Parts: sequence; C-alpha cells; structure tokens
Amino acid sequence: MAKIAVLGLGSMGAALAACLVRAGHEVRVWNRTAAKAEPLAEMGATACATASDAVSPSEFVLICIKSHRDTIALIEPIASELKGKMVCDMSSGDTADAEELVSLITSHGASFMLGMINAYPSGIGGAETTILTVGSPGSWERYGEVIRQLGAKSAHVGETPTALAALFAGLFTVRQGFMFGMINGAAVCQKAGIPMQVFADQIPASIKLVHDYYDLFARTVPAGDFDDPEASLKVYALALEDALKTFRTLGAPHEFIQNMHDQTRAAWDAGLGDKQLTVLATSPGRDG
Ligand SMILES: NC(=O)c1ccc[n+]([C@@H]2O[C@H](COP(=O)([O-])OP(=O)(O)OC[C@H]3O[C@@H](n4cnc5c(N)ncnc54)[C@H](OP(=O)(O)O)[C@@H]3O)[C@@H](O)[C@H]2O)c1
Repeated sequence: MAKIAVLGLGSMGAALAACLVRAGHEVRVWNRTAAKAEPLAEMGATACATASDAVSPSEFVLICIKSHRDTIALIEPIASELKGKMVCDMSSGDTADAEELVSLITSHGASFMLGMINAYPSGIGGAETTILTVGSPGSWERYGEVIRQLGAKSAHVGETPTALAALFAGLFTVRQGFMFGMINGAAVCQKAGIPMQVFADQIPASIKLVHDYYDLFARTVPAGDFDDPEASLKVYALALEDALKTFRTLGAPHEFIQNMHDQTRAAWDAGLGDKQLTVLATSPGRDG
C-alpha cells in the first residue's frame, strides 16, 4: 500500500483516484473545483483543501489535469515540497513542455514519471488497459505495480522525457489518419451525391485492408526491407493521382489527398518507384 496524492479529478483523474482507492492505497485527492472530490471522499479518499495538503504526506504524486504546461504552473509554487517523492504526470503535453516539467521536478530532488493513458476513464483498472510511461531510473521497479493496477497491460518505455510525447504524436497520427481519411472520403462522396449511409456501409471492407496495411508495415519498416512489393510505390502514386483529380474535379477539399500524392510523387522522382510504399517511413529528404 502506498501513500498517493491525486491532483486533478476530471473524468480521467477521478477514475484514476477511484481505482487507487479500490486497490487499497491511502489516497489524498485535490481538485481546483473542490466539489469533484466529494464522491472520492465517500469512497474512502481524503479530500484536501489545497494541492500542498495532498502532496506533503504522500510519497507518490499523480497528476491528471489539462496539460504538462498546467502541471508546471500547479506544482511550481509547491516544488520545494516534492523532494524525495515520485511525481507522475498523466496529463498530455508536447516534447518541450515534457522536458521543462521533468527538469522542474528533478531540480527539486524528486523522481519523475510521465504517463500516456491509452484508454477512456471507464477502462482504468482494466485487464487490457495500457498506460505507457517514461521515468527516472528505478521508477518502474518502484512504482510499476501501481501503474499496472491502473492498467494491467501498462509498460515502461524508457527514461527520455520527450519519448512519450513523440510516441503519442506518432500513434495519434495513426488513428487520426484513419479518422481524417473517413472525413475527407465522405467529403468527396457527398460532392458526387452518394448517400452517407452507403459510404459508411462500405467502410468495413476498407478496414479489412487496413489490417493488411498494418501487416505490410510491420513486415517491412522494422526490418528496413522494401524490395519485391506486391503493389509498388509507383502504383500507389498513380492511384493517388487519379483520386486527387477526382477531388479537384468535384470541388472537394483536396489538401489531405494532395499531401499523400506529393509524398509518393517525390519518392518516385527520387528513384523509389519500384519499392514498397512503406519506404516513405524512412526515405531521406522528408525531415521537418
Ligand atoms: N478522458 C479521456 O478519455 C482521456 C484519455 C487519455 C488521456 N486523457 C488526458 O487526461 C487529462 C485530463 O483529461 P480529463 O478527460 O480528465 O479532462 P476533464 O474531465 O476536462 O478534466 C480536466 C481536469 O483538469 C483540471 N484543470 C484544468 N486546468 C487546470 C489548471 N490550470 N489547474 C488545475 N487544474 C486544472 C480540471 O479542474 P476543474 O474541475 O477545476 O475544472 C479538471 O479536474 C488530459 O490531459 C487528457 O488528455 C484523457
């Protein structure tokens, strides 16, 4: 059993706190809007009037508010109380804010963890739930069990503060790429008068192909082997050219497909036309 402070009791923070109470920890909770602590107090947590009241008797400080930037503002005034504690921020943030937050925490003699929650609040405590963490050396050995109580499939992915924000950006791009694919696909079909129900009904067949795309990606990118494609980059470039023409002719917003078209065209021009499409993940000349 650990002494844990949970700062931030929005949808996610409240779910985290409730799970830790159920797991038998001694949990102190604080939220900017105090009323949100009441249901947790009824469950057995101690509601605190200030963040400092929650932090000072606790060894593990779990924060889940809006962003790393807000976390920096929240803990700066109480930073001197963090010495010797583990501070774990599960709020979202970018790479620069992650580095600034970690430097604030460690410069006050505390250890850090940053956590990326891959679940809705209802999934907290679940057997299939993943929270990915980075943290100070030894952090996972010391507190990995607590994180696994919040999500049984949780894992530690390193000690670099920026790694998690980059991983989030990468995985978010994967899911949003699919979501924005549906959104942009709907736009061109609407322009052609296709009922949205017809479009929606056809998406599951494309999702099956997405699994094949994943298999191709996993087979080629980690191994760096892009030879002998079943469908070459050139074939995709030509298909994207046709699709781009259709978007333009129908007057649908074409920036999304234009970007995919331009990437394949540039790689073809660079001599990669006969490779797997996935060579784009590693091809030179595409640095931001
Ligand atoms: N909900 C999800 O499914 C989910 C999934 C994965 C990750 N997350 C991440 O979890 C974090 C919290 O999300 P949520 O869904 O719990 O959001 P939420 O329900 O909107 O709650 C936001 C919480 O942050 C607090 N807060 C906001 N700004 C603050 C500040 N400047 N100082 C102190 N407290 C502040 C709010 O306090 P008040 O009550 O006083 O407004 C509230 O407790 C976000 O970073 C989000 O990206 C959420």
